[in-house]
Amino acid sequence: DWTASNVVEGLVETVREAVGEDRVLCALSGGVDSSVAAALVQRAVGDQLTCVFVDHGLLREGEAEQVEQDFVEATGVDLVVVDAREQFLAALAGVTDPEQKRKIIGAQFIRVFEQAARDVVKDRGDEQHPVKWLVQGTLYPDVVESGGGEGAANIKSHHNVGGLPDDLQFKLIEPLRTLFKDEVRQVGLELGVPETIVWRQPFPGPGLGIRIIGEVTADRLDLLRRADAIAREELTRAGLDRDIWQCPVVLLADVRSVGVQGDGRTYGHPVVLRPVASEDAMTADWARVPYDVLAVISTRITNEVDEVNRVVLDVTSKPPGTIEWE
Ligand code: XMP
Repeated sequence: DWTASNVVEGLVETVREAVGEDRVLCALSGGVDSSVAAALVQRAVGDQLTCVFVDHGLLREGEAEQVEQDFVEATGVDLVVVDAREQFLAALAGVTDPEQKRKIIGAQFIRVFEQAARDVVKDRGDEQHPVKWLVQGTLYPDVVESGGGEGAANIKSHHNVGGLPDDLQFKLIEPLRTLFKDEVRQVGLELGVPETIVWRQPFPGPGLGIRIIGEVTADRLDLLRRADAIAREELTRAGLDRDIWQCPVVLLADVRSVGVQGDGRTYGHPVVLRPVASEDAMTADWARVPYDVLAVISTRITNEVDEVNRVVLDVTSKPPGTIEWE
């Protein structure tokens, strides 16, 4: 019978056998897959695992804390947090082109992770137990998609992972590669991963960096973070989290419009709500969020986020629109 506890037991055994006494490294993103993979490997080999969390400053409100506090508390994982916020902002200064933003964020991420990996190798590894493994949260659909359907094999040999340089060679350990998303969530709950992480909606790797249309700055990030937090809070309060796939909030940072608030004229920025319904993100429909929920979100954002004086709704399906604006 498929039960989460049987699956955990089996996978823990497999990981333990493969890893032996070696040290293991995992890049945590705060998402479901990497978190559950890390929790599983932690259950198997304890402190032989070190997780690295790169805070690139493009996260939403509360996300860094979810990883730094809640996840660590729940799993007891050995965590290294790299505060790379200034470095990412500096690299993004003056950049407005979406593809360029994505490339810069990706390249910075590899650079920061690579340095953290070297530091962990130096700090935590010893001659007898070098860091040999890198955990990846690959799921079964990813395996099938990339044509690597090797049945129940949990572990595959690999180096130069994700653009890491040749002198950092890891074997790849992918404990979730036989599981579907819903199974990963069950396994996560079984392992005590916080529900806020287990049920998290998809969030893009480049984060809020691709939800600011225009240049990414600290002030704009701050503003978008507050608007996004309000939208998420109200959608959760309305019980809609499992009905909508995700709801990007997008800041049109270079657009301004005239408004009136209190007894004065305002000249602020619009934000776009982009709630979508989807099965797999390949196609999506705009989600019919009830008007009264939209009304509360709009009122709160314009009241609580000074620089935003207009909230608009994106009613485009995918195709022709993508889910994210960039
Ligand atoms: P689009 O905008 O292409 O997004 O319709 C489809 C889904 O993928 C997410 N997304 C990303 N996820 N890294 C990620 O991990 C990325 O660079 C990225 N870009 C988009 C998006 O949030 C949606 O769920």
